[in-house]
Amino acid sequence: MCRAQGDNIFMASMQLQEILFSQGFGTRRVCAGLIQQGFVAVAEQICRDPATDFIATGLQFSVQGVPWEYFEKAYLMLHKPAGYECSQKPSTYPSIYTLLPGPIRQRGGGAAAGVQAVGRLDQDTTGLLLLSDDGKFIHRMSSPKHHVPKVYQVTAKHAVDDKQVQKLLSGVVLDDDPKPVRAAACEQTGERTLSLTLTEGKYHQVKRMIAAVGNRVEDIGGLHRSRIGNLELPPDLLPGGWRWLTANDLVSISGKA
Ligand code: URA
Repeated sequence: MCRAQGDNIFMASMQLQEILFSQGFGTRRVCAGLIQQGFVAVAEQICRDPATDFIATGLQFSVQGVPWEYFEKAYLMLHKPAGYECSQKPSTYPSIYTLLPGPIRQRGGGAAAGVQAVGRLDQDTTGLLLLSDDGKFIHRMSSPKHHVPKVYQVTAKHAVDDKQVQKLLSGVVLDDDPKPVRAAACEQTGERTLSLTLTEGKYHQVKRMIAAVGNRVEDIGGLHRSRIGNLELPPDLLPGGWRWLTANDLVSISGKA
């Protein structure tokens, strides 16, 4: 351990090969090979010694010219496109994990390697999906106990009326569950469109709630998640795109810096 200059925080120094290993660049042997072959640069200087120590926190490096930053835990957002499954082993459509760079999928190296989606969206649902390899974060964000609001933009097949909106707010019974579920907020935004806020995530919940009030979510483009907590899907993050969450993003969704 070495002490960061000018503050009180102890930051671990790590060998470069360990840094690459922790960030998903392959086995320790593969990482050492990448370094020895001159594929890895730190501060734009090629480093060929796998045992060189660096303070990992915030380290910027590049592997084969691609810039990376060290993160002890990974937190990212993906703009999920339609036609992708949120499973690691999809049955019909490609997996959302194929949209991420290999190292992010392989972080940690072990059997439970890589990031996991925080909850799932249906194959045909688009929008904001969070991924992380921080188990506590995943639990906190997906547990109904924590009431993290998720906002969905719904396009229904048939015209929406005030009665449907009122039912969604007061609670509807879903077939397999006697306890009514209600929307935390529901606003009609157009003849067939709604903005619906939920604080739990039951299987196909939006589609089943809309069906329970006598309407149906449109098959194509009918469901889009636009916000989790206070974190909006950025308009410049195109379908299929991902980016790291910033410290501000983490504060806005979970209060964690
Ligand atoms: N509710 C649904 O019905 N589907 C989703 O993908 C998300 C919420």
